[in-house]
Amino acid sequence: EMLEKGGYDHFMMKEIYEQPRSIRDCMRGRIYPERGIVQLGGIKEYTEKLKNIDRIIIVACGTSWHAGLVGEYLIEEYARVPVEVEYASEFRYRNPIISEKDLVIAISQSGETADTMAAIELAKEKGATIFGICNVVGASIPRITHAGVYTHAGPEIGVASTKAFTAQVTALTLMAFYIAQQRGTITQGKLIEYLTELNEIPDLIEKALQANDQIKEIAATYKDSNNCLFLGRGSSFPVALEGALKLKEISYIHAEGYPAAEMKHGPIALIDAEMPVVFIATKNSSHEKVVSNIQEVKARGGKVIAIVTEGDTIIKGMAEHVIEIPQTGEAFVPLLATIPLQLLSYHIAVMRGCNVDQPRNLAKSVTVE
Ligand code: G6P
Repeated sequence: EMLEKGGYDHFMMKEIYEQPRSIRDCMRGRIYPERGIVQLGGIKEYTEKLKNIDRIIIVACGTSWHAGLVGEYLIEEYARVPVEVEYASEFRYRNPIISEKDLVIAISQSGETADTMAAIELAKEKGATIFGICNVVGASIPRITHAGVYTHAGPEIGVASTKAFTAQVTALTLMAFYIAQQRGTITQGKLIEYLTELNEIPDLIEKALQANDQIKEIAATYKDSNNCLFLGRGSSFPVALEGALKLKEISYIHAEGYPAAEMKHGPIALIDAEMPVVFIATKNSSHEKVVSNIQEVKARGGKVIAIVTEGDTIIKGMAEHVIEIPQTGEAFVPLLATIPLQLLSYHIAVMRGCNVDQPRNLAKSVTVE
């Protein structure tokens, strides 16, 4: 088994470290940065259809649902199509309004999740076009969808999803640019710029992983916490949700993810000296706002762990801990900001003596309702 874990103590750690490779595999043969072209063979027959859709509905569960929320930002920003993201389990029982002008994107690592399958069947009956984003080749979901894109992250053994999540976000990024390209909502010049940045992400993840020792020290400080809050704005909000899910799944610490600006409508009441608050506070359009959210937490004695863009001196002077990630375009921040959160959860769970790869009560895929 040690051999299977590639020298790591757990599959989860191995899979975290595989991400530069898994993301590269997800992009291979699909992007041509010099020419500003995205090619997705799995959906190319639906190119005409993509020009005429009115709306996209993303259905998924768990971590895949979080990837869907990142996808919502990317698709709306670049392809300018309205997107809704639904929990598959809710969608199927809601008598949803769907037509032939809707595109449904079902996201599933395993391709076997019962609720997601039922949501697909329902949307299909109502005439929607269904794309799948799956990791397991030949699984049930890819077989019932009209078309799709495999994430190619390779087998994921750890129950808590890591590399499958970043591969899903990568696939959604490609899909956002692909749809934008077909609908003419993005210029060739911009595509060249974005694809060049996207192509560098695997190397930047490699750099982000170098914070591992520092993150281990931070984990030692907070391993006995009972609660933890994760805050982010824009597409970093789903990253916060995913960070909280990871921590609660494997360490059993109660954790919540919130949009940073919503903190004042509830979670702020929980903040005291015992409360670690993780901020995704990278340099982007909402940086200033996040800085003021950090000040609000500090004023109440909360302990701030901030994920920042390298060289950010403003937040360094305010937070207990800063974890730097490399500079990248705003669209790609989720791919980098996720890495330190995975490592933080991992180390905290190990220090608490938890079964990291097989947390209690959880299954890798849920094939019953
Ligand atoms: C289970 C797993 C999660 C996963 C979710 C959806 O709860 O423990 O890691 O995110 O199912 O699974 P899927 O295979 O559809 O992505």
